[in-house]
Amino acid sequence: MIVKEPKFKKITVIGSGYVGTTTAALLAHAGFHVVALDIDKHKVEMILNGKSPFYEIGLDTLISSAIAKKTLSATTNYEEAIADSDIIFSCVGTPDNPDGSSNLSYVFSAAESATPFFKKGAVFVQKSTVPVGTGRKVIPLLPKNVAYVSNPEFLREGTAVFDTLLFDRIVAGGNDNKSVEKVLDIYRQLESRNKQIAQIVPEIGNVFSDIKSHGGQYISTTLESAELIKVTANAFLALKISFANSIAKLCDETDADVVGVMDGIGTDTRIGRAFLNAGRGYGGGCFPKDVSGLISSALEHGVDLPIMTAATEINDSMAGYIVQKAEKFLGSFRQKNVAVLGLSFKAGTSDARKSPAVKIANLLAKEDASVICYDPEASEEAHPNLNRGVVIVEKLDEAIKDADVIFVATDWPEFKDPSIYRSLKKCKMIVDCMNCLDKDAFKSGVAYIGVGRNGD
Ligand code: UDX
Repeated sequence: MIVKEPKFKKITVIGSGYVGTTTAALLAHAGFHVVALDIDKHKVEMILNGKSPFYEIGLDTLISSAIAKKTLSATTNYEEAIADSDIIFSCVGTPDNPDGSSNLSYVFSAAESATPFFKKGAVFVQKSTVPVGTGRKVIPLLPKNVAYVSNPEFLREGTAVFDTLLFDRIVAGGNDNKSVEKVLDIYRQLESRNKQIAQIVPEIGNVFSDIKSHGGQYISTTLESAELIKVTANAFLALKISFANSIAKLCDETDADVVGVMDGIGTDTRIGRAFLNAGRGYGGGCFPKDVSGLISSALEHGVDLPIMTAATEINDSMAGYIVQKAEKFLGSFRQKNVAVLGLSFKAGTSDARKSPAVKIANLLAKEDASVICYDPEASEEAHPNLNRGVVIVEKLDEAIKDADVIFVATDWPEFKDPSIYRSLKKCKMIVDCMNCLDKDAFKSGVAYIGVGRNGD
């Protein structure tokens, strides 16, 4: 594919979280001069020292080489970053308010802080996840000669670099077609160099070498549709997970195996197999808040979404359901040594926000179990949310050696090897909270409990 070099060269990325840092690091390898702008001095210093502010495979390497090549820099100074930028991506956090609605204060303050410094004809691109209608509220804050484009992000934590280089689709929506095209062109240029960039990161480069061609879709649409595509995609995926979890509860009562059931329906191309893995439910910085944000923004428009309320309730029930199921089998957790393996909301990340694994550890502590947790990356982030008395250890072996019961609460690859459980003397039960183990691999005398996998 021949991609014309765009005329603009300088890009500012506001916000150095997962989305902003990944975007900044990759665009700095795609032929642009990129400035990462954040109000947090610590994050800016980390980037300037060639490090990612959080754990994400491949990012340290991409950041350090872009800093060395001088195609990436970082600052806390809005004027310095914005004044000569052609394109400004806003990738700030949109946490949830206590009532579930989206807190847009960072979205508005980023636009307001940038406004005095825009150059004429700049494009302000919204990548933060925002409720439909937000763009209309941001536009009046910008100078008249600055265009606004919504360009939602679909990358997953743990595979952020891979997802951005090998995107399924790029969505851009706005009132000015030229500006929308400018934004799409940035990704065309990134896509044309994706193999070259992947080679900088060996773990990703290897996967790329098997990929023959990549045909990411470019979707140009209206502002409101672009905003809604993002939250609706996450809501639909959350719905699939809660659907699988509901069926898992039925499987537990009927001796069916939910993994086989989902494999069976997933072969139907109208359904698909992805995001039908039953277990302790979804967590993290996106699904829980995107679903509650969608429910609350729909209500503002007078539309009730009971289907999403049900998905939330099912998700919230899963940690307790699993603990109760194990307790029924065991009698009581009182004074039992319980190991909880995994605290992050999923494998491959240090992120423990709204992690169902943390919820499981806390529920077990409430049942008077003596709880020892281990996670290869997320201990520090999970620690403030764990109940008093819950212990974190630094080695897997330390967590499991005296355990009566082991909960595998996050699907890290190192927990899937059945040999780590073989020499344990006291362990009576393995609870596979994510259905990620081979249920036939356990010796007699050790009970295996999955979610929707073995009836009662
Ligand atoms: C999600 C979206 O996938 C991504 O497109 C968007 O940009 C941000 O939100 P992320 O939160 O990083 O990404 O994680 P994802 O891999 O989607 O998993 C979300 C949660 O669902 C995790 O807790 C995961 O364990 C859980 N999950 C996922 C299931 O319980 N079952 C599944 O089948 C899939």
